[in-house]
Amino acid sequence: MYTDIRPRRLRASAAIRNLAAETSVDKRRLIMPHFVSETAAGREPIASMPGIDRVSIDELLRDVESDLKLGISYVLLFGIPAVKDDSASSAYDDNGIVQKAVRALKERMPEACVITDVCLCEYMAHGHCGIVKDGRVLNDPTLELLADTALSHAAAGADMVAPSDMMDGRVAAIRDALDENGFLDMPILSYAAKYASAFYGPFRDAAGSAPRFGDRRSYQMDYRNALEAEKEVLLDIDEGADIVMVKPALSYLDIIRRVREIVNVPVCAYNVSGEYSMVKAAAKSGYADERMLATEILTSIFRAGADMVISYHTREVFREGWL
Ligand code: PBG
Repeated sequence: MYTDIRPRRLRASAAIRNLAAETSVDKRRLIMPHFVSETAAGREPIASMPGIDRVSIDELLRDVESDLKLGISYVLLFGIPAVKDDSASSAYDDNGIVQKAVRALKERMPEACVITDVCLCEYMAHGHCGIVKDGRVLNDPTLELLADTALSHAAAGADMVAPSDMMDGRVAAIRDALDENGFLDMPILSYAAKYASAFYGPFRDAAGSAPRFGDRRSYQMDYRNALEAEKEVLLDIDEGADIVMVKPALSYLDIIRRVREIVNVPVCAYNVSGEYSMVKAAAKSGYADERMLATEILTSIFRAGADMVISYHTREVFREGWL
């Protein structure tokens, strides 16, 4: 006898593997992102994200309605405004694209849970996430605009706001503004450990939000750091974050695990645009099986410790019966 210990016994059949599996993914905890555009006439395919379109409000309503029928409850909204300027004025305009989309969605489909991305980069002519002066992104003056943006999303009827800018103190600024205006119950999902990442490339193409000069490394995190992620999530929780996010997900599974171990709030992970597009590209060139890749990636993100995942694969998961 060469061994008494035979781990293969628990791998012998699908039934035994299913019984012994440590991770079971609850796909109801997937969140579907949407790009709603003020200028799109109907649908505009996004070249770098096959299967994802920029949509008008009418098409957004159609998408969310059919997603709800499939069982997808969570909507993450990104807005693409008609006008970009140096103060991101369309971001906190009560008649801005996100505000209009939220009102339309909640009026027609109150059962959809609508989360809004709170950031300024899509609304700034220079594409940075804050006010720029002399080539620098200013922190504190930006907080007021972020708070105004979150407040206008809340006033439009959003169910949750998700600040993604990485300015210091923005969760506290948003919490204060919400509380002062009676939105005591509005949860904040904070992009707490958000890294400066090449994996956002397709998103910036989709949202037209690539910075016109420089990069985001003076505010988004350095991917060499993990302790700093702990610092960021603890700070955000201190400031009032109800849920903390790690972003991206796939190259950051260790961060998801570390964060899950040190916080007592739910942890969200963002399976970002570049992670999605890599799967699409691999599948298209026949290098790997799309369903198997996506399933393995999403499962690994949950296994690492995510309680919920934002993914562009969400609709396919439900429609095609993956996971
Ligand atoms: C806005 C924002 C970005 C993403 C989410 N919110 C882009 C960025 O920070 O450049 C990226 C999402 C994705 O890649 O899917 N700041």
